[in-house]
Amino acid sequence: MRRAPETRRDKLARPLMPQSIQKVCVVGAGFMGSQIALHCALHGRAVWLHDLSAEALARAEEQQRQLLIDQVVAGVADEAETAATLGRLRRTTSLAEAAAEADIVIEVVKEDLELKRTVFAELERICPPHTILTTNSSSLRVSRIESATTRPDKVLNTHFVQPVWKHPFVELMGGSQTSTETMDSVKGFMESMGLLAVLVRKENTGFVFNCIWRAVKRESLRLLDQGVASVEDIDRTWMIQMESDMGPFAMMDRIGLDVVRDIEQVYYEESGDPRDAPPRVLEEKISSGDLGVKTGHGFYSYPQPAWLKPGFLKGSGER
Ligand SMILES: NC(=O)c1ccc[n+]([C@@H]2O[C@H](COP(=O)([O-])OP(=O)(O)OC[C@H]3O[C@@H](n4cnc5c(N)ncnc54)[C@H](O)[C@@H]3O)[C@@H](O)[C@H]2O)c1
Repeated sequence: MRRAPETRRDKLARPLMPQSIQKVCVVGAGFMGSQIALHCALHGRAVWLHDLSAEALARAEEQQRQLLIDQVVAGVADEAETAATLGRLRRTTSLAEAAAEADIVIEVVKEDLELKRTVFAELERICPPHTILTTNSSSLRVSRIESATTRPDKVLNTHFVQPVWKHPFVELMGGSQTSTETMDSVKGFMESMGLLAVLVRKENTGFVFNCIWRAVKRESLRLLDQGVASVEDIDRTWMIQMESDMGPFAMMDRIGLDVVRDIEQVYYEESGDPRDAPPRVLEEKISSGDLGVKTGHGFYSYPQPAWLKPGFLKGSGER
């Protein structure tokens, strides 16, 4: 059977080659969105960062400037790159402005299925046919979001790890209809930005890393909840055994305890098993307004104690 001739719309809808992914839109300027947008801009992409909140955009700009300074101090970027990066990074409260010409949109809003579906439905309306739509969700499979669009072959999960510039790693997981071309294109795009792209071969809530991290996190919370050991001793045990700069509680503080709870809630809703419900100690912290680093209090108060600072266990930290 002969194929029908390719229409203009078919041409526009063709998957992009990695080098063609030049215009990036990041939706959600919170903790992760600001880092992802910065990373793309640092690697030469023209980036629009969108958030409904002007305050969130202002905070993101501050965080991005600080992250750039950190990178200059660490010797991974220089002053010239810093200026050029900021020039490529624009911010707006209008989704239409941010997404209208995007080759790829990376959605990084709160971990809430209905919210993400609403954002994808709006993107479907705004974006050109070729635009690839991805979500940075930590626990929601894109197959639960894809039906909000008419382009399920061009949607996938792209799960970044924070801090993005120190952990150059991203997990890619397709939905029920993601095409091989889309996956290859996004893999190439990520690799062109210095990221190790891990392909999750079948849909799995929590990808690879979060499944491992979830076990560590839940066991640490259980040990605390049952009075087996203190926050500090659990963290120090982990740090020494794993030769790590950070323990599970400090890591949860950095992620945000509300974000950790929302992710646990997704696992719970999926399994219905009461053992998967967000742990009590997390709910208590959240209801007291202690969300971790971002509010100044979580399992620790911030600034952090000296022994939690990078390098301390190796003897180079401040005592
Ligand atoms: N925090 C982490 O370490 C981490 C790591 C990997 C993945 N994630 C995932 O990334 C996503 C965001 O997490 P975060 O920690 O950056 O959250 P965050 O709360 O810091 O940021 C979310 C941002 O989304 C904005 N927002 C809400 N609704 C919006 C809408 N309709 N349109 C535009 N912006 C909107 C909010 O104003 C906020 O600035 C979640 O899906 C989370 O699971 C988080």
